[in-house]
Amino acid sequence: MATIRPRRSVLYMPGSKERALEKGKELQTDAIIFDLEDAVAPDMKDMARQQVQAAISAGGYGNRELVIRVNGIDTPWFEEDLKAAANANPDAILVPKVSSGSEVEDVRQKLIALGAKPEVDLWAMMETPLAMLQAKDIAAAGPAESHRLRAFVMGTNDLAKETGAVITPGRLPMLSWLSTCVAAGRAYGIDIIDGVYNDFKNEDGFKKECEEGRDLGMDGKTLIHPAQLAPSNEVFSPSSEAVDWARKIIAAFEQPENQGKGAITVDGKMVELLHAEMAKRTVAKADAIESL
Ligand code: COA
Ligand code: MG
Repeated sequence: MATIRPRRSVLYMPGSKERALEKGKELQTDAIIFDLEDAVAPDMKDMARQQVQAAISAGGYGNRELVIRVNGIDTPWFEEDLKAAANANPDAILVPKVSSGSEVEDVRQKLIALGAKPEVDLWAMMETPLAMLQAKDIAAAGPAESHRLRAFVMGTNDLAKETGAVITPGRLPMLSWLSTCVAAGRAYGIDIIDGVYNDFKNEDGFKKECEEGRDLGMDGKTLIHPAQLAPSNEVFSPSSEAVDWARKIIAAFEQPENQGKGAITVDGKMVELLHAEMAKRTVAKADAIESL
């Protein structure tokens, strides 16, 4: 089984906010997105770019996954952002407003030309109407020798802006797009990270939306405030009951009398080999979280 990198909590930090960049070093977040795009005003773009490159090069973020969100491909900042990101050598570069697989490939070729290390991954914001229609095409551009596409980040605010769909509790107006991206991502081994919850003081609403994303099959959630970290980490971690149950299924299939069987009974429930595979994944995820 491929090693699992937990991405339960993915915190945006405006690249222009020095205080936030410093604070990120002590927060319990699986990943940090150093943002150069939406969270940074146009006249702060150069400053933010320099500050982010310096912060990542200086290090001090432990084993948190470090991601730089550059400005969009068709903006005046993109080339400089990409150059700075290649120099900073983060774990990944998040490209906003991706709408086709060829855009992923273009960015990959640019990174190769810039001499970026091949291990620097790509992440894609899924936030345009075309991306919803071409999610498979984007995901199919994921596997590659270098700059692999590793994660989709749902850009629900931009989706609402571009489509007119409203973000309601339960997100019915967006549900088909969220699920389409989960299916596309899973088909090509790409993680899916849910969009942000803007009303960051509403703890109940936030937790419900975390659970919703988890139940849709997502790996974690993008966050805007440190107060959202603990609930997101909790919801996207396998519960201790789930881990116990998984271990029980694995142990049951290992019993000599169950060798060669496709379906058995555990605690009165039918369990198939596919459940044993799921159980192994649950345990591997719990182990990966434990070792953070
Ligand atoms: N990352 C790291 N630290 C953060 C943070 C973040 N995203 N958001 C807040 N903090 C820190 C603050 O610096 C402050 O730290 P301090 O008390 O040690 O100085 C502490 O958390 C409490 O912050 P608070 O006063 O409650 O929030 P605020 O009013 O300063 O800011 C927001 C509220 C929403 C503007 C801010 O959280 C933010 O900028 N979030 C990210 C927005 C973003 O990146 N959007 C783009 C993607 S959608
Ligand atoms: Mg956006």
